[in-house]
Amino acid sequence: MTKTYRIAAIPGDGIGKEVLPVGQRVIDLVAQKHNFTVDWTEFDWSCERYHDTGRMMPEDGIEQMKAFDSIYLGAVGFPGVPDHVSLWGLLIPLRRELDQYANVRPVRLLKGINSPLAGRGADDIDMIIVRENVEGEYSEIGGRVYQGTEHEAAIQESILTRRGTDRIMDYAFNVAKTRKRKHVSSATKSNGIIHTMPFWDERFAAAAERHPGIGTAQFHIDIMTANFVLHPDWFDVVVASNLFGDILSDLGPAVAGSIGIAPSANINPEGKYPSMFEPVHGSAPDIAGKGVANPVAAVWTAAMMLEHLGEPGAAAEIERAIETSLERADTKTRDLGGTADTAGSEAAILAALS
Ligand code: NAI
Ligand code: MG
Repeated sequence: MTKTYRIAAIPGDGIGKEVLPVGQRVIDLVAQKHNFTVDWTEFDWSCERYHDTGRMMPEDGIEQMKAFDSIYLGAVGFPGVPDHVSLWGLLIPLRRELDQYANVRPVRLLKGINSPLAGRGADDIDMIIVRENVEGEYSEIGGRVYQGTEHEAAIQESILTRRGTDRIMDYAFNVAKTRKRKHVSSATKSNGIIHTMPFWDERFAAAAERHPGIGTAQFHIDIMTANFVLHPDWFDVVVASNLFGDILSDLGPAVAGSIGIAPSANINPEGKYPSMFEPVHGSAPDIAGKGVANPVAAVWTAAMMLEHLGEPGAAAEIERAIETSLERADTKTRDLGGTADTAGSEAAILAALS
């Protein structure tokens, strides 16, 4: 019997609307070969919708998502709607209320891509960033007082809970167990941030004891960013708080060639709710509508989604097709030093699959 996956597609804004359909077509093609089908449902949740209705998504949006096996999202945010409104109106509530607490972002120097770091090859850059995705520095606790006066003040609290910290640590150590090097590095800043970050370090040490056989290291975030550039080969799995993980997961893909290839998964590990898959990049207003966006991040994200749904063969095939498409300059996009537009890159990936 053919298996059918129900997937919610939210293209969102800007290049999200250009790259997500590419990923959908790639999935539909591999599905035929691997004997499954996808039942897509499209949602127009976006800044455009906000303009028309005053909301990024309907009031029961989260409830609607619970009916799906997973969510495939392009990018949200566009000039005209403040970024904190679009982010807190769609992406952050989805991640939180569907308890997608593990944000998993692989960083790998693919064949066919030159790293901006001189002399680095595919063996040097292969890591997975595991970012805490539902608490930490991104919190609603705080406020502003005496606005517009010279006594104006803004306060923003970080929240790190034992439950939230322990479960992201466990997730990272479990990922490390599946990898060759079996190593986890923790991003901290316990010298400057003296309450939450020493707590983070304690929970990291406790997790290391729960998971014997996994090597560990920890770095303050400032030197860690330097080491991502100077010694990317030091890193295997990296576990980080919400803010630090956000920063590292733009830096990582940059050293691996381009933000235009970076995939990401927002995972609810218990499977109680659907997980959500989206490229790391945003809506790229500077190139939106021009047909030149790199679709590889969306396609690699599609592979992560299929792997999560239980189709590892299809996922691996997509990853190989991506690498084939990157071998030639005329089939990769300009952000990678190529000459192809979005359609040209897609055609090369589809050709490699058939
Ligand atoms: P961005 O990722 O949209 O763009 C940064 C730079 O990278 C731009 O120069 C852009 O042209 C380039 N770029 C990004 N993706 C590319 C691709 N696939 N191919 C080729 N070039 C690519 O980040 P930015 O400019 O900070 O944010 C723009 C909007 O996107 C904002 O509204 C922001 O809030 C939103 N955003 C949404 C995210 C999401 O939905 N997960 C993540 C990051 C930003
Ligand atoms: Mg980010």
